[in-house]
Amino acid sequence: MAHSAKMIVDKDFVIGKVDDRLYGSFIEHLGRAVYGGIYEPGHPAADERGFRKDVLKLVRDLRVPIVRYPGGNFVSGYDWKDGIGPVDSRPSRLELAWRTVEPNRFGLNEFAEWSKAAGSDVMWAINLGTQGPEDARQIVEYANHPAGSYWSDLRASHGYREPHNIKTWCLGNEMDGPWQIGHKTAVEYGRAALESAKVMKWVDPSIELVACGSSALGMSTFAEWEATVLDHTYDHVEYLSLHTYYGNPTNDTPTFLARSLQMDDFIRSVAAICDYVKAKKRSKKRMYLSFDEWNVWFHTHESDKKIEPWQIAPPQLEDIYTMEDALVVGCMLISLLKNADRVKIACLAQLVNVIAPIMTENGGAAWAQTIYYPFMHASLYGRGNALVPLVQSPKYDTTEITDVPYLESVAVYNEETGDITIFAVNRSLDEELSFEADLRSFPACTVVEHLVLENVDLKAVNTAATPGRVAPHAQGNAKSDGSRVTARLAKTSWNVIRLRTPV
Ligand code: AHR
Repeated sequence: MAHSAKMIVDKDFVIGKVDDRLYGSFIEHLGRAVYGGIYEPGHPAADERGFRKDVLKLVRDLRVPIVRYPGGNFVSGYDWKDGIGPVDSRPSRLELAWRTVEPNRFGLNEFAEWSKAAGSDVMWAINLGTQGPEDARQIVEYANHPAGSYWSDLRASHGYREPHNIKTWCLGNEMDGPWQIGHKTAVEYGRAALESAKVMKWVDPSIELVACGSSALGMSTFAEWEATVLDHTYDHVEYLSLHTYYGNPTNDTPTFLARSLQMDDFIRSVAAICDYVKAKKRSKKRMYLSFDEWNVWFHTHESDKKIEPWQIAPPQLEDIYTMEDALVVGCMLISLLKNADRVKIACLAQLVNVIAPIMTENGGAAWAQTIYYPFMHASLYGRGNALVPLVQSPKYDTTEITDVPYLESVAVYNEETGDITIFAVNRSLDEELSFEADLRSFPACTVVEHLVLENVDLKAVNTAATPGRVAPHAQGNAKSDGSRVTARLAKTSWNVIRLRTPV
């Protein structure tokens, strides 16, 4: 017996305009993300700068508007000056966050160039672990000041006369975490972030800043951390960050598939804390959220412990993603869309090789993991206004999470093109779902296509040898009848129902 579920949407019930940066990603100097990932001089597909063109194509196909860089935990011990100037004079350093050797052959200027080639903007994270306001103001001057000062002229002497104009900056990374180099209390971090923010904006008032929220909902300092940090920084930053990774270490798939409900809660809680500080300060400003690390991450937790330290670019955090991981990523994307009024930036962590949608072999192939596809679909078709989804769905309980709807769904309407896209996951392990969308304010919908990602084996993966084992097909059976759209959603499937209405 199939489950039945219904979604009602109306073009006047708008959650918010989807900010393009919701489809951002992240490259850290970690494992083979940079070396052997985006940059591999001598690879048959590398251009004259050492950028792998096979990887660039896969990235461009995702239409990633912004990429966070250079970390992550890495950034809290990183001196950005090690990565500028003539490559052969750059130092190799012990990198303490991931216990590797960083050769510094790729740095700020190379990343700015790579981002341009990828069609992305740079989101730069400054080091607030071992550095502070002085380095922060210097890097903004180096990256963004046009000319006529020490750091801007140094950039020009390095071959970059035009400023990079980096708009979005993170004030450190996960500074609440005891694992972080230069871990701080909320007061210590709030002060450092505030003083850095001031001088960075004095150098370039056009930039936007992200303050660190908690590194996970489960941190013992959660909530108090956000409130204290914002107490110091509210008037000086535009965004507060959130990070979340989910895993399925006990093979409890119903719970794993329900994790995005916790993501919804996390977002709502952080928004409430922002509004509390806003009220306390009698501020008129709305604080937005930057979900600048999110993904599934657990497959390599144990194996990574065995990696020998002090190697250059060892294969760290190379999670091989399954079909069920792709469903969780799909649900997380729907969660971000359902909160598009508040979450303006989000970064799938990460982009290449390190917990990533794109994998490579050194000297060899590049291919798409399972999670590539829901991300690509959302990025390509999820731009416009996110519409409030009124969902009526049967629910299930797990030992940890209750009232989990089998149907997870949201719709995005693009007013300019008349495109409506419904993203829907059927969480049921056993039953298909008879789905109906009531699009009452769109009287003449036609189905453009119904894309489906599914596999009989929830543990199926893509590898270099079988890169297409988990890939979407367009054989979904969505039908429209005026404003009523129906479809049968296969068990444990990700669905993209693309509709068109007259504009
Ligand atoms: O993305 C991997 C790591 O996860 C990042 O370096 C850190 O910020 C987070 O804990």
